[in-house]
Amino acid sequence: MTTATDSIFHRVITNNWPQISHGKDCYLYAEDGRAYLDACAGVHVVSIGHGVPEISAAMQTQADKVCFTYARFLTQPQIDLADKLTAMAPGDLNRVFFVSGGSEATEAGLKIARKYHLETGNPKKYKVITRWQSWHGNTLGALSMSGRSTWREDYMPYLLDFPHITFPNPSHCPYCKGQPACTLSCAEELERVIKQEGADYIAAFIAEPISGTSCCGLKPPPDYFPTLREICDRHNILMIIDEVVTGFGRTGKNFGIEHWQGVVPDIMATGKGLSSGYTPIAATLVRDEIYDGIYKKQNHYVHGHTYGGNPLSCAIALAVQNYIADNDLVARCAKMGDLLHEKLLPLEASPIVSAVRGGHGLLNGVEFSKDKSTGEPFDPQQGVTSAFVNRVFDKGVLIMPGSAGMIDGVNGDHIAISPPFTINEEQIEQVAQVIVDVVGEMEQELGY
Ligand SMILES: Cc1ncc(COP(=O)(O)O)c(C=O)c1O
Repeated sequence: MTTATDSIFHRVITNNWPQISHGKDCYLYAEDGRAYLDACAGVHVVSIGHGVPEISAAMQTQADKVCFTYARFLTQPQIDLADKLTAMAPGDLNRVFFVSGGSEATEAGLKIARKYHLETGNPKKYKVITRWQSWHGNTLGALSMSGRSTWREDYMPYLLDFPHITFPNPSHCPYCKGQPACTLSCAEELERVIKQEGADYIAAFIAEPISGTSCCGLKPPPDYFPTLREICDRHNILMIIDEVVTGFGRTGKNFGIEHWQGVVPDIMATGKGLSSGYTPIAATLVRDEIYDGIYKKQNHYVHGHTYGGNPLSCAIALAVQNYIADNDLVARCAKMGDLLHEKLLPLEASPIVSAVRGGHGLLNGVEFSKDKSTGEPFDPQQGVTSAFVNRVFDKGVLIMPGSAGMIDGVNGDHIAISPPFTINEEQIEQVAQVIVDVVGEMEQELGY
């Protein structure tokens, strides 16, 4: 049991969740022997399940050779992993910059965009346009590019003044309320903001293709990303796509942006599923033109972190990606995702459920509302999301609470369900049943 008196700097001091001893497949086991079905893959991370022997073997093999070399040296695992990633990535995203986590990956995207413009004759370009309710990480550059108000608030004095546009959530979009379908006004807002800020000052636009932690499973309409791509091109603005959650099969395709055929980002940030949680590693991929632009006049690029591209992490991530390919796990993720979505859809009938999101891999979300006919949210003080997640936990299933303020920065209750790709039909059934049962319990408790 964790307590506030031990030596850990806790993130929640009232947390009394148990200490975990080990994991196997889709389960985490506590020291007291209790098993938890990990239906959120930690935090959308674990794709191949816990405790895969092939990965331990790959770790051991590389550890016996060398675990760390600094960036000055190349190693075979680094070269092989970069080759693997560029072969998987769309278009000419042919250069890989290794880092250790998702925030470092998006922040590298920000710096690469800035450097590209500096080197190609546009020194004024520095701002990144982002979206409210988006999430790109906790370091200050990444936080500046994020739109989750509750996590930005305390650090506002340190954040860069990056413009934010409307998030494409059809249930709460101020443009589309009362319209029969999406009007794409939120995408067109990008152009208006570019004009107002001045295209000369805008280096990049960043977005997740399908939302992860901020509004799990939300997938914008077919014309959304082509419209944004076209606007970026018109103003020489780089498109950074954040695949930290969606990358490596989570949405039933290698990368989430592949759901919009022909849209190739200039920069792609990845993380989480790259190693399925077996080691901290992440990567930022860039198109040929960006790489060539940066090296047009110079022979070095000033950015990087000590552990970026270390051979042990690269060997582990390579083993994970090979395991996914050998076991056809991306296709399995798509199939199991359809099944989970189908099992969750009946929740739409509940008076407290205003949206059931999913149907594109194992990235599902459920949104709760006080009045589903109007989308009126519950008072955040009621703590509906955390009460829900705790009840699910008590039944032995792990899901993620959605971030607070998903609707407007203040309001919005929702949960995320994103199990490992190796989950089977029975376990899907169990997860869905627990969620259905808890929705029923919450309806009663809330007086419906
Ligand atoms: C979409 C997205 N980008 C970036 C990050 C930051 O990744 P990390 O926590 O590994 O720094 C996250 C973390 O949840 C994320 O969901």
